[in-house]
Amino acid sequence: MLNVIIFGPPGSGKGTQSEKIIAKFGLAHISTGDILRAEIKAESKLGKEAAQFINRGELVPDATIIGMLENKLNGLTDAKGVIFDGFPRTVAQAEALKEMLQKRGEDISVMLNLEVNREELISRLLKRGETSGRSDDNLETIEKRIKVYEEQTSPVIGFYKTEGTYKGIKGVGTIDEIFDRISNAIEE
Ligand code: C5P
Ligand code: MG
Repeated sequence: MLNVIIFGPPGSGKGTQSEKIIAKFGLAHISTGDILRAEIKAESKLGKEAAQFINRGELVPDATIIGMLENKLNGLTDAKGVIFDGFPRTVAQAEALKEMLQKRGEDISVMLNLEVNREELISRLLKRGETSGRSDDNLETIEKRIKVYEEQTSPVIGFYKTEGTYKGIKGVGTIDEIFDRISNAIEE
């Protein structure tokens, strides 16, 4: 199975590139952010809890996210592989993912880190905020999300470097240019 993590700061293009990866490689998509937003829309208990964190630009606690991910993985049958989008966001989540996959006799094939500078991230997210309707695409929350990324999420890079599955991808350029780099990295 081809299990891919698409990683990077908020606004680095994880969701956009996931769609193209799915179309080309036929993977199942697990976007933890999309699952959380669906729960909020459905006004579920999980959604109500998660909304408070998301609106502040903070991370939903590991136990909640890991449980949610495990449910989603259990629901997948005969997938060719999975693209993990927006997960893991902490080293604890990366460790839990490793354990979950090991139980299934699987592992992560590659972790792709989309590298985009801060100015570009902010300008992309502000632009997205004009149409996304997302409660967290405003300047104050964007800056908080980037700070949370730097403090809590970026250590995940070291985890996958140690695992030997890390690949850095230049995340600026046209969507197709970036996708070419990603395709090459996956096919390697
Ligand atoms: O991945 P995405 O940018 O769509 O996530 C939006 C928000 O959802 C994050 O800023 C965070 O508040 C929450 N989230 C989280 N833990 C994850 C994924 C998303 O707390 N693993
Ligand atoms: Mg996303």
